[in-house]
Amino acid sequence: MKIFNVLTIFPSIFDSFFSYGVISKGISNRLIKINMVDIREYAFDKHKMTDDYQYGGGQGLVMKPEPIYEAVESVRLENDTHVILLDPRGRRFDQKKAEELSLYNNITFICGRYEGVDERIRSLVVDEELSLGDFILTGGELAAATMIDSIARLVPGVLGDDRSAEEESFTEGLLEFPHYTRPYEFKGLKVPEVLRSGDHEKIRKWRKKESIKITLQNRIDLLKDKALDSEAMDIIEQERVKMNKRAGLYTALLHYPMLDKQGDNVATAITNMDLHDISRSCKTFGVKKYYVVTPLEAQREIAGRVLKHWLQGYGAEYNSNRKEAFGITAIHSSLLESIADIEKMEGEKPVLVATSARKYPNTVSYREIAGITKDKPVLLLFGTGWGFSEDIIKEADYIAEPIYGAGDFNHLSVRSAVAIILDRINAFVQEDTL
Ligand SMILES: C[S@@+](CC[C@H](N)C(=O)[O-])C[C@H]1O[C@@H](n2cnc3c(N)ncnc32)[C@H](O)[C@@H]1O
Repeated sequence: MKIFNVLTIFPSIFDSFFSYGVISKGISNRLIKINMVDIREYAFDKHKMTDDYQYGGGQGLVMKPEPIYEAVESVRLENDTHVILLDPRGRRFDQKKAEELSLYNNITFICGRYEGVDERIRSLVVDEELSLGDFILTGGELAAATMIDSIARLVPGVLGDDRSAEEESFTEGLLEFPHYTRPYEFKGLKVPEVLRSGDHEKIRKWRKKESIKITLQNRIDLLKDKALDSEAMDIIEQERVKMNKRAGLYTALLHYPMLDKQGDNVATAITNMDLHDISRSCKTFGVKKYYVVTPLEAQREIAGRVLKHWLQGYGAEYNSNRKEAFGITAIHSSLLESIADIEKMEGEKPVLVATSARKYPNTVSYREIAGITKDKPVLLLFGTGWGFSEDIIKEADYIAEPIYGAGDFNHLSVRSAVAIILDRINAFVQEDTL
């Protein structure tokens, strides 16, 4: 029989919880036992106090150490027990932990209240600290009940049919497939035909696929730590292609209105290196189009000649990689022209994200930019000269966070900034999609 001791100042909270379902059956079948220990019974002062003010001041009471210590000692007198302190500071409880704890015969939970327990309890009696999740409860009782519930159902015999525990979410490192029962049709929604086919292999495959799809959608983190078989890898690959359909990422290198050294608005000159290097970075990181923007016709004409050489002239023959990179590059006379081009392709205007070496109130992180690309096209604006004039900064929806290196110096060439920023956004996109 597995014994759960629960140390609490409110033992009756648990009364109804353990009186229902498989847990109650497990108790009456003597597979598990819940032993409530009222901490107050171990408070030996005349007022039976279990809490007190905290040293150092501050709001909130703290649970006194003596009653908890004595209560644990009373349990230990009878049995060897594994003592768990329920605390948001603890490691997060999960199915793996439930499986690990199901191997102990005797477990003791300490339920805190108020600001928690006196710190010395941790070193004196606690074997491990567990949290139910990243939120604060008013007491450890719900956490204890939850953990007992999930550990108890792993005790052989408690569930009746032991296989049902083997097929749950998390057991295989995946979320569970959808279940259906009668009626066959409900509110116009029918049970998937495969489940009525009687073909066990087909059903197994369908369930595995659905299970992977749900995990990809809701808990991609679970898949990252899982050793996958080739069948699962194939399913993930197919689903990944479907899920990866993000809106496009675009870049524009603006040459007007830019600041000069004196802070005046000027048009800067297009450089050959910015044409080549930025096209290559953009192609590498899957940017759909790279716009080189200048209102000066003579400048557009020079840039156009460079592009033509690599796209159609001898350059295309000499270096086909460069041709590929320049294939996404376009020369435009204004930012409005680039925005209209994107709108034509995507069916909506892009979110404008300017890049800057300075922070602004609407500065966003690279993770946030990667998040935006899930739903909307994003046009990253890069500047030349001494950076953007305030007009562009005002027009942008967001400003990308500045790139910092080892110290204060962050005067990168725009070519380097493009490569670094695209790499950072790409890292977060990858993280989101496996
Ligand atoms: C109001 S909480 C104390 C929170 C504590 N001051 C902190 O900020 O970490 C009171 C008690 O509820 C329990 N508790 C609260 N949140 C919990 C969680 N996420 N997991 C496990 N126990 C929790 C603990 O036993 C805790 O001592």
